[in-house]
Amino acid sequence: MTSPTLLPQPTKLALTSGSWKRSHSPEKQHLHPFTISTDSAAPLAPQVNLLAHYLSEENHFDVATGTADKSDIHLTLSLPPRQLSLLLAAADFTDETYRLTITPAQIRIEGASPSGVACGIQSLRQLLSGQRNRLALPCLVIEDTPAMGWRGLMLDSSRHFHDVATIRRFIDLAALHKFNLFHWHLTDDQGWRLPVEGYPRLTEIAAWRDKTLIGHECDKENRTFIPARHGGFYSHEEIRAIVAYAAARGVHILPEVDVPGHVQSLVTAYPDFGNTGHAPGVRNTWGISDSTLNLEPSTFEFLGKVVSTLADLFPFRYIHFGGDEAKTGEWAASGRIQEHKKELGLETEWEVQNHFTERLHSFAASHSRSMIGWDEIVEHGNPPVDTAAMYWRDGEHQKVILKALQAGHPVVLANHRHTYLDAYQQPTAEPIGEPLAIGNHLTIEHIYAWEPLAEFPVEFQHNIMGAQGQLWCEYIPNRRHLDYMTYPRACALAQVLWTGTGREPMASFVLRLEEHLRRLDRLGVAYRPNSPA
Ligand code: ACM
Repeated sequence: MTSPTLLPQPTKLALTSGSWKRSHSPEKQHLHPFTISTDSAAPLAPQVNLLAHYLSEENHFDVATGTADKSDIHLTLSLPPRQLSLLLAAADFTDETYRLTITPAQIRIEGASPSGVACGIQSLRQLLSGQRNRLALPCLVIEDTPAMGWRGLMLDSSRHFHDVATIRRFIDLAALHKFNLFHWHLTDDQGWRLPVEGYPRLTEIAAWRDKTLIGHECDKENRTFIPARHGGFYSHEEIRAIVAYAAARGVHILPEVDVPGHVQSLVTAYPDFGNTGHAPGVRNTWGISDSTLNLEPSTFEFLGKVVSTLADLFPFRYIHFGGDEAKTGEWAASGRIQEHKKELGLETEWEVQNHFTERLHSFAASHSRSMIGWDEIVEHGNPPVDTAAMYWRDGEHQKVILKALQAGHPVVLANHRHTYLDAYQQPTAEPIGEPLAIGNHLTIEHIYAWEPLAEFPVEFQHNIMGAQGQLWCEYIPNRRHLDYMTYPRACALAQVLWTGTGREPMASFVLRLEEHLRRLDRLGVAYRPNSPA
């Protein structure tokens, strides 16, 4: 048999002799059931269920549990975990190293952690893609480990609301590519998706907008709208189920509540948290709102409740509090803000923003959580050193991140020029034949050529936890379009993050991708065709 391809390409793949074959005969299955086993001491029940789910859904094999020496597939935690960096270990990442061994008698997936086993399961899922009723794989040994710890995809469920099935599918496809982090942008000017007990107007008002702009925000003269109410929210039960669904796949969920700017939906529901006394209406156009939060005690009481809600729902160490693009006009014009500034000894509007960072950091710390935000939160002032920054503005703002790294802040790379998957996919401003996108362009070639760490001095690189792609959804209205913008570019990003430096040439990656796209076809992924061109 020829050597199979995987995406991302594993660190090592060696063919051995022979093959593993199983065929399905429904009438005899009770005599020779297809079996998965696990070490009894290993906490791998979610991974056993996950593998059984894929085998049943994608390969039409039903599975029973078996004994370790006789089963068809055995999952175990027999690899000694490698030491992760202190930052990654503190964030609850585990060593995702795995070994996948196929012999005629058995397939074994050995992990250094349940997440390692989950990565091995995704490799096996890729190898078995398209096989139904009769399974056949060449014997081989794969030894695999990621270069980067934090390998994420961000999804904006504010600008367009995603139903739970779409969220699950997004996470599952991310896991197929060995992403291990789902950053969930839950609130913004255009909609608030998180229920918080005691604040019913969040789900009654902030979660809904009356209509949605068609086209770009800049076309102010000729605005047209989809005249339908749009929105929704995720119940706490739904969120808990999504967290468990992701955890079985080795995927952490980073929730984001974006403050003190990007709050027009919140201030519409609770004008007392804003600076004008008015409800501006949940934003139905794009762009950035002028709305910001005020410094009243009731606002911080609310934020404290938001943090306890997030800490209760999401087990991941980090909570994301946005911090990007907070406009300062309302603060400058507000007498109450000026009074608070005097009381608190704050001089500039930047110091107002820093005050939010400090308060949110301490709310998070009181729940044993750490704070992360967009890079504005480390631009001025000195937030506590464990405050992590997401580098998005790149270019001249690189100096902000260099300073943060120098001060010891953990950093995640989310540079808009390499990771914003809401940009056009070919190199012209408004490409003919492409659906509307936010602007700019980011080709798959550009992503594949990216060396994430190269722009930072070696002595600071240990503070870079990893990187992630962003799916901002102003111009991504539905699941098909989300597929189109995410894939195949996220395939290239997955390879960059998994392998780090020393990747195969682009031409070899393109061949690998060709085969992988057949897998995505089978999963019904509506990726952008003909790319790379
Ligand atoms: C951002 O793109 N405003 C983080």
